[in-house]
Amino acid sequence: MANEWVEVAKLSEVPDGGTCPIRFNGEPICLYNLEGKIYATNDVCTHGQASLADGFIVDGDKIECPLHQGMFNIATGKAVSPPCKIDLVIYEVKAEGGAILLKV
Ligand code: FES
Repeated sequence: MANEWVEVAKLSEVPDGGTCPIRFNGEPICLYNLEGKIYATNDVCTHGQASLADGFIVDGDKIECPLHQGMFNIATGKAVSPPCKIDLVIYEVKAEGGAILLKV
């Protein structure tokens, strides 16, 4: 199953400017909708046990962790604000025909 696109959610489940937590193969993943473009990162903050899907999108391109307010760039996964230092894993994702597809 390498390099396949798999449907993981409906586009309508990820509100514009919002997040949606999913699980795929046991991995917690957070989907983001930034003005119609979909992104996916691991859902667990690299600083602690917090779901980034419960966080806040800041400046249109960063996710703020709900626990200690560290921030990551959503597109790159880069940790951009303390206390977060370790980048998030990101996933290749696309929207097609009302579905969100993840590359696996
Ligand atoms: Fe996310 Fe601490 S758990 S910033």
